[in-house]
Amino acid sequence: MAGIDYTERIPNNVGLAEDLRLQRALEDWQPKFLDWWRDMGPHGYQAKETYLRTAVSVDAQGWAQFGYVRMPEYRWGIFLAEPEPGRRISFGDHKGAPAWQEVPGEYRGVLRRLIVTQGDTEPASVEQQRHLGRTCPSLYDLRNLFQVNVEEGRHLWAMVYLLDAYFGRDGREESEALLQRRSGDRDKPRILGAFNEKTPDWLSYFMFTFFTDRDGKYQLAGLAESGFDPLSRTCRFMLTEEAHHMFVGETGVGRVVQRACELMRQHKTDDVRPHGGIDLRMLQRYLNFHYAVSLDLFGSEISTNAANFYTMGLKGRFEETKKDDDHQLKTATYTVTGLDGDRLVTREEPALPSLNERLRDDYIADCQRGVDRWNRVIKEHGIDFQLRLPHRAFQRAIGLFADVRVSPEGRVLSQAEWEAKKHEWLPTEEDQAWVQSLMRPETEPGKFASWIAPPPRGVNGQPLDFEYVRLA
Ligand SMILES: [Fe+2]
Ligand SMILES: [Fe+2]
Repeated sequence: MAGIDYTERIPNNVGLAEDLRLQRALEDWQPKFLDWWRDMGPHGYQAKETYLRTAVSVDAQGWAQFGYVRMPEYRWGIFLAEPEPGRRISFGDHKGAPAWQEVPGEYRGVLRRLIVTQGDTEPASVEQQRHLGRTCPSLYDLRNLFQVNVEEGRHLWAMVYLLDAYFGRDGREESEALLQRRSGDRDKPRILGAFNEKTPDWLSYFMFTFFTDRDGKYQLAGLAESGFDPLSRTCRFMLTEEAHHMFVGETGVGRVVQRACELMRQHKTDDVRPHGGIDLRMLQRYLNFHYAVSLDLFGSEISTNAANFYTMGLKGRFEETKKDDDHQLKTATYTVTGLDGDRLVTREEPALPSLNERLRDDYIADCQRGVDRWNRVIKEHGIDFQLRLPHRAFQRAIGLFADVRVSPEGRVLSQAEWEAKKHEWLPTEEDQAWVQSLMRPETEPGKFASWIAPPPRGVNGQPLDFEYVRLA
């Protein structure tokens, strides 16, 4: 790939043109990335022109340029948010010291692990979603899927940039390993559980972008506070893109809710299946599943790792600098829900090892706001039903509740009680078969599948019947 004009080919604000060593590392990695994209990126649409947003700079005009592009020709760029002059570390043992512009030697291994774990989720979600194109409910949704996919690809670039620029040879090895693991692969799986689950249909996809991408938002928000300034600046720019992924999830589920309500009203029934819709109760089961899997991504309620990341100044709290306390938390406590026999109880725990739980609490509050907006749609249709987030202890695989069965209301159950009720709480095989049966592609511009309402407006001011992906 020698001879490429990298400033042209890889839009960036990291001075790539002046850094020969970094250029060489990326020259070596880029063809491997493209091979991975062709093998594991969106299946079947690589040659189609898609109306995509590309970031070519971080300012207001540059970060969202729209135009037709074939995905393998997408210009995956490397962007850091603008530096804050004189930025200082705002928490932990190094609070008040100038933010690090180089990797602090004593934290090198920990920091690399944090970056690799974040980086691994980016290609994983592209792999999970690669077969969705062939069942898209509309060209609008197909385009939004591909937008999310190319941006997750860009997030991989963002992490690989950090590894290549700051971690020398081990960084380059990790960059390669990021392209070698595969979502759901038994021998070389992705690092985190939720990223090895299947995303078999569009309902799962919308739930994933609402719940699982939102975990990403909170992890990035914690890393955006990092004392390692290049990581902080990288994550701050990624968060601007992540907002679109949240939008796809929230409006996607919201449109399924809306369609269900319209069909319920029109046909005066709760069972909208004969009319090609997805029941609200079925939606609730999907919600329960994706929420629980995503809660697990925050890790154990009590975690020495979380305490160390904070004390070392590597990962802060959500909106760390807006909090009014000592930002060291050595003597502070935090309320954590745990188990006492077969009862769920809250306890005051030392704040530092409770930081995962604290981030999870911020996440839960954010999820609740989205659920409230869905419930408003239901209410506006005069329907007496509410979607609910299940209890945080429901269906968990990691942490204090991993070994107990808990109802969505938060009651600890016997195994027999769980078995008797679980089909009411989690997607059944029948649910999955039903959702699968609805997944027929709708690719005529301006048309939408039976189970989802059209969005109120198109992308970037374009009409709903715009040709968002040119299939011809
Ligand atoms: Fe991402
Ligand atoms: Fe995302």
